[in-house]
Amino acid sequence: MTRATCTAHPNIALVKYWGKADAALNLPATGSLSMTLDVFPTVTTVTVDDALARDEFVLGGEPQSGVPAERVTRFLDLVRAQAGSAAHARVESRNDVPSAAGLASSASGFAALAGAAAAAYGLDLDPTALSRLARRGSGSASRSVFPGFALWRTGDDAHSVAEPVRAPDMAMVIAIVDRAQKPVSSREAMRRTRETSPYYPAWVSSTAETLEAAIAACAEGDLERLGALAETNAMRMHAAIQACDPPIRYLTATSVALFDRVAALRAHGVRAWATADAGPNVVAMCHPDDVAAVRQGLGPLAELVVARPGPGLALHADADG
Ligand code: DP6
Repeated sequence: MTRATCTAHPNIALVKYWGKADAALNLPATGSLSMTLDVFPTVTTVTVDDALARDEFVLGGEPQSGVPAERVTRFLDLVRAQAGSAAHARVESRNDVPSAAGLASSASGFAALAGAAAAAYGLDLDPTALSRLARRGSGSASRSVFPGFALWRTGDDAHSVAEPVRAPDMAMVIAIVDRAQKPVSSREAMRRTRETSPYYPAWVSSTAETLEAAIAACAEGDLERLGALAETNAMRMHAAIQACDPPIRYLTATSVALFDRVAALRAHGVRAWATADAGPNVVAMCHPDDVAAVRQGLGPLAELVVARPGPGLALHADADG
């Protein structure tokens, strides 16, 4: 038996990944830019065991079956192919999400799984190779391999990987609107947007331009420009999603109220901008000195968690079993 344990954190995209160029290889239609968080880690242990007749996946102490277990097995198949191994594995994963369940992310999940599985199967992968591997599990996981800010590029299988980038210092105030599981998975919603939203081509072309502008804003350390670009990009993603057939609407009345509140704070000189992923939770991106003002402004509307740029993938020294 060989065993390895890895920790990874979720990330929030400032320029979103929403659409695939290749679903089998999980290649994105556009590049994206994110901040890895210092909250809500996933800790995953992979034990390779010749005695197992099939893979096992235990999440938060609960044995998994169906789609989650199949996604893990398909991912392990990739690792086994690279390692030249036929052995099955037990995957034990925990999402350390204090009171904010429902924020567990596939980004931290597949990044931690990539790190732990690669090590347990004896692959010696550098961060770029781990990002490429994590991407196959979930696109956004490619970015969680890196600490701080990460840019995930388009390209073929070899080149579509994330890399660390410098960006103006930032805090994120996460407003937890709803902890329930979302009605339509992001994977399905992404597919439906590409296939049915008339705005999808405009989303792709505008996001490619926004990414270039965001990279320039990062290089110039221009938080105001970066924040404004990120908020517009989030609105455009949700506009494209809402135009699906049948339509999907992730933002609730409370989400919209949070966007309005962030805009009102900004009108009073607070350096804050809002974004939202495929769900109702809203994230205020702000200058670190303005966290208190943002907390005060958003507090009445939702439970808040403050995040700062977090660490990349961390492999733990784990004794062989
Ligand atoms: C809205 O990475 O979960 O959070 O590659 O199909 O697993 P799959 O999708 P996933 O999508 C993330 C979508 C997003 C935007 C982002 O993180 O860039």
